[in-house]
Amino acid sequence: MADAVIRFGDKESRLEVVQSVEGQVAVDISRLRTEVGLTTIDRGFANTAESESSVSYVGGEEGVLHYRGYLIEELAEHASFLEVAYLLQYGELPTRTELEAYQESISLHTLLREDMKHLFEAFPHTAHPMQILASATSALATYYPDALDPHDEEAVDISARRLIAKTPTMTAWSYKYSVHQPYIYPQNDLGYLSNFLHLMFSVPAEPYTADPVVVRALNMLLVLHADHGQNCSTSAVRLVGSSQANIFSSVAAGIHALSGPLHGGANQEVLEMLEEIVAHGGDVAPFVARAKDKEDPFRLMGFGHRVYKNFDPRAKIIKRAADDVLDALGIDDDPLLDVALQLEEVALSDDYFVERKLYPNVDFYSGIIYRAIGFPTEMFTVLFAIGRLPGWIAQWRELLADPTTRIFRPTQVYVGPERRPYVPIEQRS
Ligand code: CMC
Repeated sequence: MADAVIRFGDKESRLEVVQSVEGQVAVDISRLRTEVGLTTIDRGFANTAESESSVSYVGGEEGVLHYRGYLIEELAEHASFLEVAYLLQYGELPTRTELEAYQESISLHTLLREDMKHLFEAFPHTAHPMQILASATSALATYYPDALDPHDEEAVDISARRLIAKTPTMTAWSYKYSVHQPYIYPQNDLGYLSNFLHLMFSVPAEPYTADPVVVRALNMLLVLHADHGQNCSTSAVRLVGSSQANIFSSVAAGIHALSGPLHGGANQEVLEMLEEIVAHGGDVAPFVARAKDKEDPFRLMGFGHRVYKNFDPRAKIIKRAADDVLDALGIDDDPLLDVALQLEEVALSDDYFVERKLYPNVDFYSGIIYRAIGFPTEMFTVLFAIGRLPGWIAQWRELLADPTTRIFRPTQVYVGPERRPYVPIEQRS
């Protein structure tokens, strides 16, 4: 393909064109500054690719998502979460033997070092579990100093398995601590998600068996969250990783990025918004009016997406599943689901939302299922983190394995004061 040419003044730069598998074309602007003296500005990196990536593809115009070529609809229906985690890590779907070996090795790393209990206890009982999870993830680096070299493939692989194995335990322990219940130890003969539900919801005084309906629903939700191109948290993981910081520190940065209300934190905010609407009598109109009012910072949480300008395919799948899951759990009528459906209908026929192509995103319906399963609202974003973890790790590994990777160091357009002499303090007015 021909190069793109940029002319600025009497200088010219021929920009190499990079072709994506899915049809987009990118120009490599890295020589622009030296050749014609121009830098680029792109707020929110809306049109900037830091690198090539083979992990997942988000097709905003058509509303398509695939992981390494496999469409999300097929994975959500047929694949287990660990199967998807394997696909993201190693690039191919596992054979049965590979999957069994992977599951087995993950189950061998579910325990936390016993002294880590003190870490949980250092937090107030009211602490948000995302803050605890980020701290505990950072702390893992101190327990496994022998496996921190980002260029030692074996060390990276064991750290990746430890992260995937221990995150449900850390998550559940943050919850148990917040509700003053004893920590529950992992049970390695259970599957990954049955074990997580056991860690979360069982108590030593009672037998506990996870409901297969719940396991299936959770599996579907986590598969849908497993990767999503260069979103904010994944970019945070890659940015920190680009300095060759260890994988635990890099993933902890991703957890912090995910906690924000414009990103993963939106799933908690959606549910709180739906509760507020129900508490105000169920009329969605004033909330839609507030979302459109430019003087009001309120936004319809769970609406809009940087990339999707058509329906978010994950939201479609969750919306379809919500009714079935609620039915299977014996919940005949959920006022929050009714309000969510109403809100979607009103918003999608309103010019403000239509013109801006604001559709429900993954966070809009997921909380309704999490809530029906029994998760408290503060745990929703942590569930997103468990889901996104294999993607973060796969993206980090991709970056570190790429010989063309350089430390992320964006430039800036300085608009502060011009150079000026220092003024001694006695002379300042
Ligand atoms: N409610 C009302 N107006 C909105 C909304 C919303 N939810 N989202 C975007 N807009 C408006 C925005 O005010 C702007 O209007 P105008 O052109 O008149 O200034 C226009 O739509 C474009 O919005 P933007 O903020 O420039 O878009 P962005 O790509 O920078 O932000 C977003 C994307 C997802 C952060 C944003 O749509 C939003 O804040 N949504 C609500 C929070 C949310 O649901 N986040 C979850 C995102 S999906 C999963 C994830 O990443 O975790």
